Amino acid sequence: MDDILNGEKYRLYQGDCLEVMKQFPDDYFDACITDPPYGIGFKYSRHDDTPEGYGKWIWNVIETAERKCKPGSPIFVFQSMLNVRMFSEWFPRDFRIFAACKNFVQIRPSAMQYAFDPVLVWWKDGEKQYSAGTSSRDWYVANTNPSSRFGLNSVDGHPCPRPLDQMYHIVNQWVKPEGITLDCFLGSGTTGVACAQLGRRFVGIELDPDYFAIAKKRIENAYAQPTLFEKLPPKEDTAVQSNLL
Ligand SMILES: C[S@@+](CC[C@H](N)C(=O)[O-])C[C@H]1O[C@@H](n2cnc3c(N)ncnc32)[C@H](O)[C@@H]1O
Repeated sequence: MDDILNGEKYRLYQGDCLEVMKQFPDDYFDACITDPPYGIGFKYSRHDDTPEGYGKWIWNVIETAERKCKPGSPIFVFQSMLNVRMFSEWFPRDFRIFAACKNFVQIRPSAMQYAFDPVLVWWKDGEKQYSAGTSSRDWYVANTNPSSRFGLNSVDGHPCPRPLDQMYHIVNQWVKPEGITLDCFLGSGTTGVACAQLGRRFVGIELDPDYFAIAKKRIENAYAQPTLFEKLPPKEDTAVQSNLL
């Protein structure tokens, strides 16, 4: 298959993800890791986050992204607890859920039910691509407190950046070295920064030109730095073997 990235480490697109994904062949990416709008009326500067029609739209995007990934690729979709009743209807896959704790602007310290976002994960049919197999049983993904390695997840100009720790952990654990990750809802670019730091390749798409500019700057800077890539030899996959994931 032609390498669409043409030897580049990453490529970023400003536009609608459904349109942009058409440029890629099926079975191209090694993982989809994405944190979409949740359809809960959140205030973005341009995207209309209305609940009406959300389920149909988001599944159209995620099913398309899944099709663009190789067999056995992991699909990670961040979601909101407010939608929990709808997950099995919207995402008709055999997904598991883990918690991505929040420390960003919309957290309400007095309300436990807003303390984390659920992340759905499943694998596209086929032999599972990769697992670093290092920490499948710990709670590291949830460790996003202010003393975490990368500090608080504040990014000027974007209303809901994810903590870098979360994306870093997912990429490190589940994307093979040199693998290409797709994030169809780039936002401030956190998934791309994690890929840059770990020496993975990346394709990101963001609709909003202002958010896109933030992401572009962050990701360009991250790829310009020497990689922090920790060479973790692929180990025996305890998670897969024990069916924990
Ligand atoms: C929850 S935010 C992503 C935050 C990101 N994970 C971060 O760390 O900054 C969702 C993003 O999806 C973007 N978006 C909404 N509709 C889109 C579409 N059709 N195509 C591409 N991006 C879209 C929004 O503008 C918003 O920045």
